[in-house]
Parts: sequence; C-alpha cells; structure tokens
Amino acid sequence: MEDLLSRLRSARSVFVLTGSGISAESGLPTFRGVGGLWRTHRVEELASPEGFGRDPHLVWTWYNERKAAHHRAKPNAGHYALAQLETTIADFTLCTQNVDSLHLRAGSRNIIELHGNLREARCTRCDVRRPLDGAGLPLDELHHSCGGLFRPNIVWFGEPLPRAPWRRARVGAAQADVILVVGTSAVVYPAASLATRYSAKAYIAEINPEDTAISGRVDCVIRETAASALPKIVKAVSLNSRADG
Ligand code: APR
Repeated sequence: MEDLLSRLRSARSVFVLTGSGISAESGLPTFRGVGGLWRTHRVEELASPEGFGRDPHLVWTWYNERKAAHHRAKPNAGHYALAQLETTIADFTLCTQNVDSLHLRAGSRNIIELHGNLREARCTRCDVRRPLDGAGLPLDELHHSCGGLFRPNIVWFGEPLPRAPWRRARVGAAQADVILVVGTSAVVYPAASLATRYSAKAYIAEINPEDTAISGRVDCVIRETAASALPKIVKAVSLNSRADG
C-alpha cells in the first residue's frame, strides 16, 4: 500500500476504472457474484438488441426495476473518496462500467460512462432522448411518434462502445501515472482492457475483495472492499499533500 500511496502523491495523471463492485456497498447487486444479476436473469433476454426486439416490455420491466433501485441507492464512501481524490490530482479520469449514476451523485466530475446510463432513454429510429424519472419508462410510452421504440441508453452485449467515450478512455489510460481498478471482475471487453493494455508506464492497483482476471498483472492488489480501502487511501494521500504544504 505504501508504494501506491507514494505513487498517488506524485502522480500528475490518474485513471480509474470501476465496475459494479463499487456500488455493492450501496446495496446494488453485482453481475457475476453471489446474488448477481447474471446469476438470476438471462443476459440474452434482457441486455441484448435481440432480447429487446423479442420482448421490449420485459426488457423495460427489468430496467425500470434497476432504475428504481438506483434511485433508492445512495453513493457510498468509495464513491465519495474517488470524488475527493479527483480534487487533488491535476489530470483525473473516472471511467465506469456502471449505469447507476452513483459517481455523478457523489460529486465526481470527469466521468466516462462507458456502458451508458439510466438517466435517459433513446429512440431506436431517430435517436431522440427522453429523460427517465425514478420509476423508469412507463410501459405504455415505449413508442415514439417517429415510429421507433424508446430503449435504455445502455450498451448491450454485442453492441459497440460509443466512439468518443471509448477514445477518451483509451487516452486517459495511456497517459496515466497511476491506474486504479475498483470493483470489476475485468472479464468484459473492451472495457477490461483499459486496466492493463493501454499504458506502458502506469502503476496499476486493483481494489477488490476477490481475485480477478487481472490480479496477476497488476502492481498492487488491495484485497478490501471499495468503501473500506478508498477512504483510507485518499485520506493518506490528502494528509501527506497538506504536510507538503
Ligand atoms: N468492493 C469492491 N469490489 C467488490 C465489492 C466491494 N464491496 N463487492 C464485490 N466486488 C467485486 C467482485 O469481487 C467482482 O470482482 O466487484 C466485481 C464485480 O464483477 P461483476 O459482477 O462481473 O461486474 P462488472 O465487472 O462490473 O461487470 C462488467 O459486465 O454485465 C456486464 O455491462 C455489465 O458493466 C458490466 C460489465
């Protein structure tokens, strides 16, 4: 941990990749862990263009439930710690795979939502957006006047990542002095490649209570939860920064 702290204290550029694990302590389920969404639901039916084409009502029922859960959830100490860390680093990029908006609500600013978000829906035909309130999209309002259907503004399996956010994320990872990988199993590509593939110089630290697909390829493994480890890290970095004046 001391090595990570000294790297963060001298870092000009930091890149953070987060996954559903950082929202676990806000009460939101992960995807692949115990009780995870993919353990109790079928990905193909709910998070794919084909599934949406087959049964848009089923897909919206599921996303409306997730949206309501996001609305009830609160950012946890891990989200707030990253928002605080951002204020101490000159060049800070937070790239999240999560669609729960908890980083935004915690005060993070430079956020890349690689897999989209549930703050709005978009029309499959004309791409027009409409905001989603805490209950999501009413099932009798799926049709847009252009003849298209409103869909969640989420990147589904088999779909490409949005080009501009993906480019920004690659640049952020490539120029980082330190990369923090928090709460992701690092099994879904291309997002997972941001942890280790685009930087030749970064010091990479993983914060996760369990082993992941990249644990053997990082410089530092912190086997703790996000809400436990991140506040300690940020406090130690901030204290030292104040000591330096
Ligand atoms: N703090 C930190 N990490 C945690 C915590 C916690 N409190 N609780 C669980 N984790 C870790 C788990 O050990 C696991 O490694 O979070 C990770 C969650 O992994 P997944 O469930 O696979 O979720 P994620 O990595 O975000 O999935 C990536 O896959 O299904 C798609 O689009 C979806 O964005 C998602 C992507």
